[in-house]
Amino acid sequence: MAFCFHYLLIFSLCILYVESTDPIAQLCNQDSKTTTPQITQNIHSLLTKLAQTTSESGYSKTSFGKGQAQVFGLAQCRGDVPSQDCSTCIQAAAKKIKTICPNRVDARLWYDYCFIRYNTNNFFGKVDTGYETIYSTVENVTDPKTFNHALGALMYEINTVAGALGSKGVGKGETNVSHFVTLYALSQCTRDLSPFSCRKCLEIANGETFCDNKKGCRVIYSSCYVRYELYPFFFPVDKKLAPESSLVTNYSSVVRKP
Ligand SMILES: *[C@@H]1O[C@H](CO)[C@@H](O)[C@H](O)[C@H]1NC(C)=O
Ligand SMILES: *[C@@H]1O[C@H](CO)[C@@H](O)[C@H](O)[C@H]1NC(C)=O
Ligand SMILES: *[C@@H]1O[C@H](CO)[C@@H](O)[C@H](O)[C@H]1NC(C)=O
Repeated sequence: MAFCFHYLLIFSLCILYVESTDPIAQLCNQDSKTTTPQITQNIHSLLTKLAQTTSESGYSKTSFGKGQAQVFGLAQCRGDVPSQDCSTCIQAAAKKIKTICPNRVDARLWYDYCFIRYNTNNFFGKVDTGYETIYSTVENVTDPKTFNHALGALMYEINTVAGALGSKGVGKGETNVSHFVTLYALSQCTRDLSPFSCRKCLEIANGETFCDNKKGCRVIYSSCYVRYELYPFFFPVDKKLAPESSLVTNYSSVVRKP
């Protein structure tokens, strides 16, 4: 019970198996303004445009409509995802997001491989860590000191890459924690962020205490994403090293609203 007390903003906390085809997070902002028929139409046109333009480069941001009814949208795949999987993910996301928020103008949807978002307010270039979803393994590491040292060094390395010009906002890598244990990590920002804003977002993600001493963790924001695991989870996938571990690992998830 004391545990719950520390997280007053939690509205869901549960143990779960994560299937890669399900959304990993979603938001329909009930505080945003209500849609009008014109806005709904613009959202549909915007999503069509995003679905068409995202798969090639893995990223697109665009707007549709004018004045009060203008809608801004962004779609991005995880930086390591091949373009075919990216395309499949974006198509599914553009379809699904229409159903999650029929009455409000601020919607966001995350899958393992991609992210899509729209709003009548222009959110481009702004760091947004207000809405947060975390998945952490139920299991703790056995040797926190060694593990955290390796994790810190790896995160520093990949965040520097993610936050550098020309990196497309993504950094990934691996390091040996011991002879038998390898740690894999990926960090990513939405590509509308400046390198400075990207580093700022990743810093906030890395400070998430819910991940402390966990064997794996994913911190998901609207502007950036950080994940580490003791098994390979990013492309190119080494089949020998990646069994069904992502399906049998138990995670706790928590969602915090601003
Ligand atoms: C992990 O560590 C936390 C904090 O020390 C503890 O409350 C929890 O019971 C541990 N979980 C497991 C599965 O050992
Ligand atoms: C990790 O250890 C393996 C086997 O000992 C070695 O082949 C590999 O190069 C090491 N990787 C890193 C990143 O040091
Ligand atoms: C996950 O949780 C289930 C149910 O509590 C348990 O049976 C299973 O052994 C756990 N798996 C792992 C990898 O910890």
